[in-house]
Amino acid sequence: MADGERGGRGRRRRTSPDAGGLAAVADPVARLELELRAARRTIEVLIARSERRVTVPTQAELFEVAARMEQQIEERTRELADKRAELEAVTANLDQGVLLRTRALAESEAQLLRKNAELERQSKMKAEFISIVAHELRTPLVSIVGYLDLLVEARFGELAEPMERPVASIRRNAHRLKRLVDEMLDFSRIEAGRVRLAREPVELGVVADDAITELTPLAQAKRQEIIATIVPIAAISGDADKVHQIIVNLVSNAIRYTPDGGEIRVAVDDAPAITYAGDWARLRVRDNGIGIPAAHRHRIFEPFTDVQPAKHHTSSGPDSAGLGLFIARGLVELHGGLITVESEEDQFTEFTVLLPRTA
Ligand SMILES: Nc1ncnc2c1ncn2[C@@H]1O[C@H](COP(=O)(O)OP(=O)(O)OP(=O)(O)O)[C@@H](O)[C@H]1O
Ligand SMILES: [Mg+2]
Repeated sequence: MADGERGGRGRRRRTSPDAGGLAAVADPVARLELELRAARRTIEVLIARSERRVTVPTQAELFEVAARMEQQIEERTRELADKRAELEAVTANLDQGVLLRTRALAESEAQLLRKNAELERQSKMKAEFISIVAHELRTPLVSIVGYLDLLVEARFGELAEPMERPVASIRRNAHRLKRLVDEMLDFSRIEAGRVRLAREPVELGVVADDAITELTPLAQAKRQEIIATIVPIAAISGDADKVHQIIVNLVSNAIRYTPDGGEIRVAVDDAPAITYAGDWARLRVRDNGIGIPAAHRHRIFEPFTDVQPAKHHTSSGPDSAGLGLFIARGLVELHGGLITVESEEDQFTEFTVLLPRTA
């Protein structure tokens, strides 16, 4: 009965999903040891009985039983030795495996750390390089743009009629270039943590209105309508120029990535306390344009990222650096706020900016 129970337990343990090679060998070994102990006990009892002469069996019988037992013990001992050897081999294999894996893990961790350090170094070098190039480009560009503005405003006399169109085109492109260079400078400043906010009370609605006025001609050129819903709300503590830049980046994206005739909605209000804990002013910019594919949505705030397929590139033109959202997010976060996006391809894109009432 006792053997039956042991056997039953042993079987259950072997089929357990946790039982590894070790358990498979350890079980029979334990069983053999128990059997050996029992056999030894039997012999001892028999010998004790024969010594006390209380046993019925003859000495010859006893010797025979003892010899059988001896033989069994030998067999069991051999089996035990085999199982022990097996157990040791499995243990050694396991130890070796664990050792190898630990070493491999340590190696890949060291590799990752090295790669990380290298990436950080390259990223710093890139930001530094961009900063130097942008600075060098900006000085002559400011002068070129300034003179072109004066030329177009006829400060040096009226332009000959055939020159009007080419000069206007040169001026437009010079402005584009300056905008790109300014973005590159902003990028490197944010990356290096060199942007400081000049805080003052900022009326989010007023700044949004200004940005919309500035961008309306751009929207009109694409026959788009900008619909503003601005609720009067208490001022936030922020940097008006930077907040303006955030809104311009979002609205100009909405214009750029929405086909002709589309609709852009800009809303300013207090974030509803039910949805957002705390005191936040909220800005939402929504368009019914091409949307952002879900697979790429997480990348749009990274620098130099354009996730739209090539077919949309003609509309974005050469002045698209893929920096606008990186800069917008950097500026929002400097204010202690956050920016999120929701979108559905070919349906809509909506950016939500939350800015804390107090810094
Ligand atoms: N409203 C939007 N609708 C669809 N896609 C958008 C929208 N806003 C941004 N994106 C996608 O996110 C990418 C990153 O936007 P971001 O403003 O950073 O760069 P950009 O507009 O390409 O260039 P830049 O702003 O530097 O001129 C865009 O290239 C575009 O693929
Ligand atoms: Mg942009």
